[in-house]
Amino acid sequence: MTKQRVLTGITTTGTPHLGNYVGAIRPAIAASQEENNQSFYFLADYHALIKCQDPEQVHQSTLEIAATWLALGLNTDNVVFYRQSDIHEIPELTWLLTCMTAKGLMNRAHAYKAAVDANRADGEDSDFGITMGLYSYPILMAADILMFNANKVPVGKDQVQHIEMARDIAQRFNHHYGEHFALPEAVVDDHVAVLQGLDGRKMSKSYGNTIPLFLPEKQLKKHINKIKTNLLEPGEPKDPDTSTVFQIWQAFASEQQTAEMRQAFEEGIAWGEAKKQLFELINGQIGEARERYNELLSSPAQIEVELEKGAEKARAYAAPFIETLRHAVGIRKIG
Ligand code: TRP
Repeated sequence: MTKQRVLTGITTTGTPHLGNYVGAIRPAIAASQEENNQSFYFLADYHALIKCQDPEQVHQSTLEIAATWLALGLNTDNVVFYRQSDIHEIPELTWLLTCMTAKGLMNRAHAYKAAVDANRADGEDSDFGITMGLYSYPILMAADILMFNANKVPVGKDQVQHIEMARDIAQRFNHHYGEHFALPEAVVDDHVAVLQGLDGRKMSKSYGNTIPLFLPEKQLKKHINKIKTNLLEPGEPKDPDTSTVFQIWQAFASEQQTAEMRQAFEEGIAWGEAKKQLFELINGQIGEARERYNELLSSPAQIEVELEKGAEKARAYAAPFIETLRHAVGIRKIG
């Protein structure tokens, strides 16, 4: 049986939070342990430059995200775990694909269109503040995927359009230069929880409502205490299905623990008590990983070694493939 190539990128802006863990990191690590998957996970640092022009922040985030995945038990013997910018073949492929991409296709990209709409709403020039990085970012993403002939690309809903664009671009290239690329498919898992943040909206860096994954214990407790609740007193029954505390509980608890907490809500558990139990549940599950995380952060050279190992594995695919592609488009040695 041929293995499915599963590939996904993590943009290196920001510090991982509980929402990232539950929605992306935990399922990706689980998928990497499945026999019939061959996983490629990478730190999308070229993508980070589109959103973030603060060099220290890009660098720090790359470090934190790499440490997070390693601390949580990503096994780099089974996974190709690398930093996008170590694979020089990716920007090279980006150019080959750029020359096969209709400008009209990029005009339709949601992220670009949203930026244009925002400018118009503000009475600005349509192109105000829009870089070519933002505009052509779906092509870089297509190169990330096609470079490794990935079959499955796990992403959030907001990214599905980009995978479709990668397919379009691959098809056009294949049609013109011969069958070189597998056509990737987006995998959107509707079962993984989209976690609510402190204020009850989706947990997201842009709302400033996150709980960072590896906060020191005391701070984790403090953050959990800040989760918004209503004014119901201890003893008054509470509705689990409209409660952020319960929603986060559910994302970490077993079925039985979830049923028990549901009952405790109906029996009027105090908010303070529910939050205390939530802290204990989460802390119990991530406590050991947090220790490994702090160890890794204090010896970043160890992380660098892992990434260089990953780059070598990734380039074992990318280097010969880019040679084939260069040849296919007519960039060849003379004589
Ligand atoms: N753009 C994706 C995001 O913001 C990250 C990403 C970059 C990615 N390259 C990718 C995801 C390739 C899947 C495949 O979430």
